[in-house]
Amino acid sequence: MSGAEIQISELTDPADPDVKHLLVELALDEEAAYDHPRLGREAIVASTGPVAPVFMGENHVFVARDAQNRALGVVWCVLFDPGTGLEGEVAELYVVPEARGRGIATLLCRRAKEFFQRRRVTFACVWTREDNPAAIKAYRSAGFQPTEQAVLTWLPLPGR
Ligand SMILES: CC(C)(COP(=O)(O)OP(=O)(O)OC[C@H]1O[C@@H](n2cnc3c(N)ncnc32)[C@H](O)[C@@H]1OP(=O)(O)O)[C@@H](O)C(=O)NCCC(=O)NCCS
Repeated sequence: MSGAEIQISELTDPADPDVKHLLVELALDEEAAYDHPRLGREAIVASTGPVAPVFMGENHVFVARDAQNRALGVVWCVLFDPGTGLEGEVAELYVVPEARGRGIATLLCRRAKEFFQRRRVTFACVWTREDNPAAIKAYRSAGFQPTEQAVLTWLPLPGR
């Protein structure tokens, strides 16, 4: 088969049974690849619904304040469910320079994790850099770990 024989078109029927079949097979392949609790075909078929063309998200911001009510740090959590289960992301984490090194980011990250637990997310993530050891330690102490998956990104930068 050559690429010239392949046509790609956007799905118009969200409940297309062929697409549902592909998504179920994908989920079964994926769960076989990881050492996580498995749902099995029946549960995956039941939970694979039409692909909603639109979905909403939520922003939740938690602020650390001192006894004088000064805001010292913030963690911004995002929730969204594209139809595959509720996901969480720590979008931003910041502590003012004069309050750093006192465990505030650690407390904020733990609060974020508790929030994700309470909302029963299926998955939560955060983006950071290896050259930010304080952030890595704060996230790790809340239970975030390096992922076993490969994450690839594309940035719409000029020349790329
Ligand atoms: C990253 C940041 C949020 C950390 O805030 P913080 O309140 O100082 O962090 P904590 O005091 O909770 O420290 C977390 C851990 O890092 C350690 N740590 C703190 N500063 C450190 C440094 N400069 N180098 C290495 N480790 C450091 C702490 O000892 C603590 O480790 P422990 O759990 O083993 O005791 C803060 O530096 C910041 O706002 N930076 C700019 C924004 C940023 O980088 N945000 C994260 C983007 S993903």
